[in-house]
Amino acid sequence: ESPRVHEDTIADPRRRDYLAIGAVAWAGVGAGVIALPLINSMSPSADVLALSTTEVDVSAIQPGQAIKASFRKQPLFVRNLTPDEINQANAVDVASLRDPQSLKDRTKAGKTNWLVTLGVCTHLGCVPLGAGEGENKGPFGGYFCPCHGSAYDTAGRIRSGPAPKNLAVPEYVFSNDTTIVVG
Ligand code: FES
Repeated sequence: ESPRVHEDTIADPRRRDYLAIGAVAWAGVGAGVIALPLINSMSPSADVLALSTTEVDVSAIQPGQAIKASFRKQPLFVRNLTPDEINQANAVDVASLRDPQSLKDRTKAGKTNWLVTLGVCTHLGCVPLGAGEGENKGPFGGYFCPCHGSAYDTAGRIRSGPAPKNLAVPEYVFSNDTTIVVG
């Protein structure tokens, strides 16, 4: 085709508009690509949340009492087991459990009275009862999920109901005798 035909095509007003619209659209896409990482770095991202820790002062938690805290936007239960509750947990045949773990597996050496778990039922994620004043601890004396009836024992292990796993124990350390740092 001759150069003249080409000039005619560009001179077509509609064709010019398409070209202009195309250029603006591409500029928009370019700006979006550049802006996205900036926006991500300005808002508290999942990465920052994933690194956050929670400090819990346990000095006021009496034997037999549990409290609710929060860790990385999830409920966290901290429980001070009585000697009876410890005996109850240790009397269970671990091999017969759905998710076989001893109380020792789930607590720190020398501090088996402190049970630290996420307050998230391993069935479909409801918050079990038992960490609040007067709440139903269920038939195994630990925690009870009101959604579909999963019952956890005094070591937070699943004992009946649909939940497949024990309440999760997060990473934590005692930074001193009365402070737990979770995460
Ligand atoms: Fe807890 Fe279903 S979510 S039993």
